[in-house]
Amino acid sequence: MLVLGIETSCDETAVAVVEEGRRIRSNVVYSQIAFHRPYGGVVPEIASRKHIEVILKVLDEALKQAGVSLKDINVVAVTQGPGLVGALLVGICVAKGIAFSLNKPLVAVNHLEAHLSAIFLEKDPPPFPFIGMVVSGGHTNLYWVEDFLNMRQIGQTLDDAAGEAFDKVAKMLGLPYPGGVSIERLAEKGNPNAIKFPRPMLDKAGYNVSFSGLKTAVANYLRCHQVISKADIAASFQEAVVDTLVTKSMQATKDLHLPRLVMAGGVAANKRLREKLFAQAKQENVAVYFPAPSFCTDNAAMVAALGYHYFKADKLASFDFDAISRYPTCLSPLDIF
Ligand code: KG4
Ligand code: ZN
Repeated sequence: MLVLGIETSCDETAVAVVEEGRRIRSNVVYSQIAFHRPYGGVVPEIASRKHIEVILKVLDEALKQAGVSLKDINVVAVTQGPGLVGALLVGICVAKGIAFSLNKPLVAVNHLEAHLSAIFLEKDPPPFPFIGMVVSGGHTNLYWVEDFLNMRQIGQTLDDAAGEAFDKVAKMLGLPYPGGVSIERLAEKGNPNAIKFPRPMLDKAGYNVSFSGLKTAVANYLRCHQVISKADIAASFQEAVVDTLVTKSMQATKDLHLPRLVMAGGVAANKRLREKLFAQAKQENVAVYFPAPSFCTDNAAMVAALGYHYFKADKLASFDFDAISRYPTCLSPLDIF
C-alpha cells in the first residue's frame, strides 16, 4: 500500500511516498530557510506564499523519485496541525484536491504525533509502549505512547519551546536562523561549563519544562559583560537545554517504569543532546531511540508513516476538515498509569 504524505505546517514544503508505513519510496523536502533568514525567524505570510509556489513541483518530484503516478497512490495523508494556519491550508487544499478528484481515502494527521512516528522509518523501531519527547521549534512535549492512535501528553513547556529558545538565543548572539544548527556549530568551540546558566523546572515534580528564564539569563549575561566568548555562551546555553531535556525525559521513564524513550523533532538532531542522553540512558538501562537527523526535522515521510496507521484503523478525514493551529492541551494525570 502506498501512502502519499504532505507536510506544510511551517517552513518546509514536503511530499513523500511511503510503502506499508515503513519503506520510503521518496522523500522530498524543499526548505524555505533562505527566504526567512533575513528576518531571523519564520514569516508566516512568506511561508504560505512559498508553499503555494513550490508544492506542485515538490509533489511531481516525489512521484517521479518513487516511480509512481497519482493513480498508484492508495491513501493521501496530510498534516492538519499544529502549525501556521495559512501554511497548513496549502498542503490541506492540495491533499483534498488529489483525494477528491481521484476518489482516494484522505487522512489528517497531527504533526507532533507524526514526529514521534518518524522512528518507525528506522531499521529497529521500539516496541510499544514508550515515552516520547517532541522537541521542536514550537513544542516541547512529553508523551506516554501507547500505540499510533493513542499518544497521551504528560508534559509540555510552560513558555518557550526548546527550539524557539535556540532560535532566540542565536538571534541575540547574531547567529543565523535556524538557531539550533548555528548554536550547535559554535558550541563545539566553546566550554559548556564556562557559564552556569539555570536549568529551569528541574527541582519541580512532573514533566513540564520552561525555557524563557534561561533565555532571559542569556540576555542578562550579554548585558552585564563587555568581554564575552560567544562560543562559551553557545556551549553553556546548549548544555542547560540539554540537561533539562535529559533530566525530564529520563525522570519519566523512571517514574512510569517504562525504560524506552523516543526523541523526535528538530532539536533531537542536536549532537550534544544525543550524546548526553545515550550516556545517561546507558547508566539507567533505558533504551533510547532517535530518528536519523533528516527525519527529526520536518518531512512528509513521517506524515505518511502515521497516516498509514490512521487508514488501517479507519480514521479517515471528511472533506470539510480544517487546519488546526493549536490543539487544546490535555495533560494526562499521572494516576491513570
Ligand atoms: O521539528 P522542526 O523541524 O519544526 C517544527 O516543527 O518546529 O524543528 C525546528 C526547530 C528549530 O527551532 C531549530 O532551531 C531546531 O529545531 N533545530 C535544532 C537543530 N536542528 C534544528 N536545535 C538544536 N540543534 C540542532 N542541530
Ligand atoms: Zn515539526
